[in-house]
Amino acid sequence: MTGPVDVGIVGGGVVGLACAWRLAQRGLSVTVVDPSPGEGASHAAAGMLAPVTEAHYGEEPLLALNLESARRWPAFAAELEEEGGDVGYRDEGTLAVALDDDDLRALDELRRFQESLGLGVERLRARACRAAEPCLSPRVRGGVLVAGDHQVDSRLVVRALLAAAGRSGATIRRERVTGVVAEAGRVAGLRTDAGALHCATVVVAAGCWSAGIGGVPPEVLPPVRPVKGQILRLRFDPAVPPLTSTVRGLAAGRSVYLVPRARGELVVGATVEERGFDTTVTAEAVHDLLAAAIALVPEVGQLELVETTAGLRPGTPDNAPALGATDIAGLAVATGHHRNGVLLAPVTADAIVSLVTDGAVPPLATAFDPRRFARCT
Ligand code: GLY
Repeated sequence: MTGPVDVGIVGGGVVGLACAWRLAQRGLSVTVVDPSPGEGASHAAAGMLAPVTEAHYGEEPLLALNLESARRWPAFAAELEEEGGDVGYRDEGTLAVALDDDDLRALDELRRFQESLGLGVERLRARACRAAEPCLSPRVRGGVLVAGDHQVDSRLVVRALLAAAGRSGATIRRERVTGVVAEAGRVAGLRTDAGALHCATVVVAAGCWSAGIGGVPPEVLPPVRPVKGQILRLRFDPAVPPLTSTVRGLAAGRSVYLVPRARGELVVGATVEERGFDTTVTAEAVHDLLAAAIALVPEVGQLELVETTAGLRPGTPDNAPALGATDIAGLAVATGHHRNGVLLAPVTADAIVSLVTDGAVPPLATAFDPRRFARCT
């Protein structure tokens, strides 16, 4: 066994790397183990920081955590840019639009739900939507402006986190974890395909693969499942962007989002599919996403389609993250972030730092204890 290190982190996506950076900043010795850091869900992610437009019926307990993490993002981004490079933070807000009358009814219903939760939303008439985004189709019937929903470029975030974590002293081992090593109910380290690592604490941040880590009884880890998302990347001339802010839309009942990056990339997503560990990109999904995007912003039809990707979000039974300690001493979990992994990275990293350094997650995170699923069975 090599090491010892204070913390071994299984998984080098945005969540695992954010934890590594923050822990290393506290002076802890940290090793992240991942055969290809940033190539999982973080690679597919659109990078929307969208607690309001991602607020779903029945997920109200998650909202406070999402809002708090969104509040922390500007400072997190500024510090990360300083230590690791550009993350493409943009704060123009998000415009949600509706294409036809049924779409507008659904959008209005969602707006009333958002208003009932005290969220900052503003109803816009069709003309005001087009004044804000002139490339919107004249068919758009109206919309809702959400000034507080922002975006980052998730691939830049991964790159910056790798650099910042490294500068703070964290190590990345490009190896595959084959199991946790536990002795007498306490973590001793990690086994990998290239050896072993002695760690005082292990944090499992392996996205939808978190439940399958060996070496501990399966019920110790939360039941995380893969939720497939197909997503597209198109290219535009940065001098003439088709959109100036993130646009989400309903187009004849189809939901789509369009996220413009300053460097000329338009991200169009995403499907939400329960298909296990399948990452096939299908013609139908590409067709449906493009059809909805073009219906809302006709100019999208002229852009170059440069990438199609299928990523796997980590979903738990209640679609909220699993964040905190497990029944094995020294084994912690930071996974299950589902549609909000990038958004929740700052608050997750802070919670894991509290757990490792003070022995408990902060009050905001206690509702997301990973052991809540075992208690239900
Ligand atoms: N948060 C966007 C998505 O999961 O597709």
